[in-house]
Amino acid sequence: APSTDYQAESATISQGVVESNHPGFTGSGFVNYDNVVGSSVEFTVSAATAGPQTLKFRFANGTTTNRPMSITVNGGAAVNQDFPGTGAWSTWQEASVTATLNAGANTVRATAATANGGPNLDRLSVTGPGDTEKPTA
Ligand code: GCU
Repeated sequence: APSTDYQAESATISQGVVESNHPGFTGSGFVNYDNVVGSSVEFTVSAATAGPQTLKFRFANGTTTNRPMSITVNGGAAVNQDFPGTGAWSTWQEASVTATLNAGANTVRATAATANGGPNLDRLSVTGPGDTEKPTA
């Protein structure tokens, strides 16, 4: 199967708003995290089988300051992931995290770790064993 995309604008947003004023996003928009520690986006991710999967967060950060976020799966141990400047709010890149998912539904939450909030978040793409990755778009 191909990797599965989950749009941030369709996820559960805490302290953030859906916007579409910077081009290059997929779907209908992106999430602009509030500029506070703890703003978050939580995705419900379905996995066919338990095991390691690649979580790719597509983001833009038009500042020159890293906006690290804490990534948790099913409320487990937090992994700190960098979301560095991408050069412009309309320039999107992907940051990859490997995580172990359960078979069935999983919650993947990305929580801003600094008072700057998170980057603008477009989507989460999940690639499991045997999945083919789609071209970056
Ligand atoms: C600007 C930009 C937003 C971004 C914000 C931020 O306002 O237009 O898209 O989210 O900066 O610094 O978080």
